[in-house]
Amino acid sequence: MSRTPQDSPGLTVVHDAAELVVGPDEGTSVVVLEDAAFAALDGEVVAVGPTDEVLAEYPVADADTAIDATGKTVLPGFVDPHTHALFAGDRSDEFVAKLRGATYEEILADGGGILRTVDAVREASDEELAANLTGHLDAMLAHGTTTVEVKTGYGLDTETELRMLSAIDAAGSDHPVDVVPTFMGAHAVPRGMDAEAYTESVVSDQLPAVAEQGVAEFCDVFCERGVFTAEQSRRILEAGRDHGLTPKIHADEFAAIGGTDVAAAVGAASADHLLHTDDEGRDVLVEAGVTPVMLPGTAFGLGADYADARAFLDAGHEVALATDFNPNCFARSMSFVATLASVGMRMTPHEAIRGVTSAAAGALDLDDGTGTLRAGSPADAVVLDVPTASHLSYRFDTNPVSTVLKSGVVARE
Ligand code: NIG
Ligand code: FE
Repeated sequence: MSRTPQDSPGLTVVHDAAELVVGPDEGTSVVVLEDAAFAALDGEVVAVGPTDEVLAEYPVADADTAIDATGKTVLPGFVDPHTHALFAGDRSDEFVAKLRGATYEEILADGGGILRTVDAVREASDEELAANLTGHLDAMLAHGTTTVEVKTGYGLDTETELRMLSAIDAAGSDHPVDVVPTFMGAHAVPRGMDAEAYTESVVSDQLPAVAEQGVAEFCDVFCERGVFTAEQSRRILEAGRDHGLTPKIHADEFAAIGGTDVAAAVGAASADHLLHTDDEGRDVLVEAGVTPVMLPGTAFGLGADYADARAFLDAGHEVALATDFNPNCFARSMSFVATLASVGMRMTPHEAIRGVTSAAAGALDLDDGTGTLRAGSPADAVVLDVPTASHLSYRFDTNPVSTVLKSGVVARE
């Protein structure tokens, strides 16, 4: 991930917060301070604690940026670790078709769904692709996201997959939100090809070109009934790993066909969706240290049953949350995801906050303190116009974000 450089931010102080979330506790929740503040120097947190103690060392009078958070709540900036935010075209007609009874898998098998977005992306110019993503990054930032993963997978040929990665790189390096690029050539099987031949071309043609281009950090596969088998997924992720890309996997969204075993075997950073993961699949992930990423917006949009987050949490394992923003799940707000995680998966608001901050950073292998507000962390923070952290899940009407700080600089207010 390339951090977009900010002009020397100097001293940033956020003070008098009614509540401030520092980071994970020893269980599956978060540490919350009351009447708290943090200070940052040149974009890095240097002090967190009671307001009077922080201000004694870092007075407001000395600050280049000071935010009075009286009556408000301060959280680490949200990390969205699973999106397909770069696309073109419109699939709102499929939303209507699904309301009438068509299923996601039927639409894809008929050449719609992902394959229609592929048509639109292949026709779009480089500038249009980057501009589309920039617009979505603006909306994400306004909702408190300061780091986001963005996948390719609407090209399905070497040229367009590389164009997508260039657009992700261009939009990301020009925007306050940090963007983590993932290559997902194995997102669907293009029309007129079979999965086996396409798997071979991902491994032999696309991956070497992607590695040579040098933008992508992760490699992801849609391991699913009717898409890529467990064996094909494993081959692609191992080849990606050989090219220096960390594996991720879409597993158990519609059927459990072995994606969790593949995740463990290849040492994936995360396994995502998990709507049909059973106890055995869960144990396999936990044993292998693969972060489970749950996408309640997708279940909500599809009218499907939610993933079993409680099974992980009650066994003492954290759960990461993401929007899965894509034309089939038009959700860019992590606060809405937190609400769905609480209402749909019975995650406490504090567990959901961990899910959208430090656990999400773990799903992206970020170990620089992203997703926490501790000494040494990047000063990425969200000020919410709400009296307690629990209001993140509790409210679902308007955007609760009043100010977003990225690397100590006000990026949005
Ligand atoms: O994670 N399931 C596969 N990929 C996306 C959907 C992409 C699309 O429908 O355009 C997902 O939900
Ligand atoms: Fe996805």
